[in-house]
Amino acid sequence: MKTDTSWWKNAAVYEIYIRSFFDSDGDGIGDLNGIRQKLPYLSALGVDAIWITPFFQSPGVDNGYDISDYYAVDPQYGTMEDFRALLAEAHERGIRIILDMVLNHTSALHPWFQESRASRASRKRDWYIWRDEPNNWGSQFGGSAWHRDRETGQYYLGLFSAAQPDLNWQNPQVRGAVKDVLHFWADMGVDGFRLDVISLIAKPEDYPDGEVNESGFADFHPFVANNPRVHDYLRELNAEVFAPYALFTVGEASAVTLAEARKYCAADRHELSTVFSFEHVGLDGSEEYKWTDRRIDLEELKRVLLRWQEGAEACFPNALFWCNHDQPRIVSRLGDKSTYRERSAKMLAAALYGMRGVAFVYQGQELGMLGGGFSSRAELRDIESLQGYDALRRAGYGDKDAMAIVSAKTRDNARTPMQWSAGRNAGFSSGEPWIKPGENHEAINAEEQLKRGDSVFAFTRELLRLRREDPCLSEGRLFPCEDKPGVLAYERRSDNRSVLVVCNLTAEDQRYPCPEGYADGRVLLSNCPGSCYTADGRLMPYECAILEKP
Ligand code: GLC
Repeated sequence: MKTDTSWWKNAAVYEIYIRSFFDSDGDGIGDLNGIRQKLPYLSALGVDAIWITPFFQSPGVDNGYDISDYYAVDPQYGTMEDFRALLAEAHERGIRIILDMVLNHTSALHPWFQESRASRASRKRDWYIWRDEPNNWGSQFGGSAWHRDRETGQYYLGLFSAAQPDLNWQNPQVRGAVKDVLHFWADMGVDGFRLDVISLIAKPEDYPDGEVNESGFADFHPFVANNPRVHDYLRELNAEVFAPYALFTVGEASAVTLAEARKYCAADRHELSTVFSFEHVGLDGSEEYKWTDRRIDLEELKRVLLRWQEGAEACFPNALFWCNHDQPRIVSRLGDKSTYRERSAKMLAAALYGMRGVAFVYQGQELGMLGGGFSSRAELRDIESLQGYDALRRAGYGDKDAMAIVSAKTRDNARTPMQWSAGRNAGFSSGEPWIKPGENHEAINAEEQLKRGDSVFAFTRELLRLRREDPCLSEGRLFPCEDKPGVLAYERRSDNRSVLVVCNLTAEDQRYPCPEGYADGRVLLSNCPGSCYTADGRLMPYECAILEKP
């Protein structure tokens, strides 16, 4: 039984999208040995843990988020021995390992589903959700959420796609099988789980029609997300697996409100350590219907971030993230892609990781990587984006307009190969990469940034060090400072110290007089060396500073 239950409260967790991280064997696909080879890089950055996206056996319709065997490593990513070696070496370096568990659904090729679909009388029929008639819910990746099975004439629920049938968590045998899977990996020594779309596992008793939106279907989230029974299921998993192994758990909780998040995360409820809420990155419309050209409003963004800080306070640490494998890169989204790319990448890091919570850094974010710049359908790989493009075309958009929307929002933006060097394929693979590398890798890559003291990498490393070592930044309460459009400013206060984080979120100069007491403050971190901010209250475009009150 492990006893260290608090390591994660202020940790930095680095997300690895295995397929795009580092290819050790030249087949164009990242792999477990590739991660092992890059552990020194991760140690240099100073991360406490890595979250590795699914590498279990899978037909790969959704790049591994469709698992056909939870107990096997997919050969394209390596072997079980490779995983054990990675786990051991990471632990030797003091880096913990978080696995990505997809438990809301399996692959349609999973033997459980094969058996379930075999006949209406199958012993596993009730492991999935079968109905005679569909309702009007749409699936996440396009089309109906109900998929007709020709053999038995019924429809099964697949909230994401037909290749990802939803498990029926109401069935205790399903929950038993899920716990067996979790036990297997916990016994091997992993340190925690990221639980994919966990807020969706408990389905309602009935399946009412909803209001049809731009997609031609109704959004299922209001009916499925955070169904009260999800909390019973999580308490069961907590009692039998998470608590006995002292595991860190972060649940992906789409459509979660603050009140709901407290239920998932409050320590006395014994469910999860923390949850990913998407309110801040959903402000451009991606939660309900993503294929629009809406942009995130900065003032709304500030309000949402600060509300979550305040609301979570004393209850649970927020999961702080800008990027993941489903989100377009944050510099492309909120920063400046050219003149101020590095400065804006650093500012965005300070704005978020200055807050209280677990810092999630997505591969390449520490370099200020940009989106993929996809110009044709043929360059896209993601099932959601391909179906999204087709739906826009059906709705009357021309190729150019449809590609403009998809290119800005596609998950493939986050999935272009990690940019290790200016060399061939960004140093990711000696073979043919499964997705086209970013054209900007000659300018933006790890090799170059590791040599430079003012790189985004160096700034991120310093920021993570401060979070680790400064009790004010790790434990201190957060107090928003006076509000001014375009500026995010807050104080962190611990027993006898105060630290100010001030960020210009815009490409224009801002005047924001230095809050009282900080004019003589010590600069702990700044993205504009030599700045006169404390003297003249002028913030340059995308300038940020972390100041300590004397
Ligand atoms: C989560 C994953 C995403 C996947 C989906 C279905 O949102 O992050 O990549 O497609 O779940 O499993």
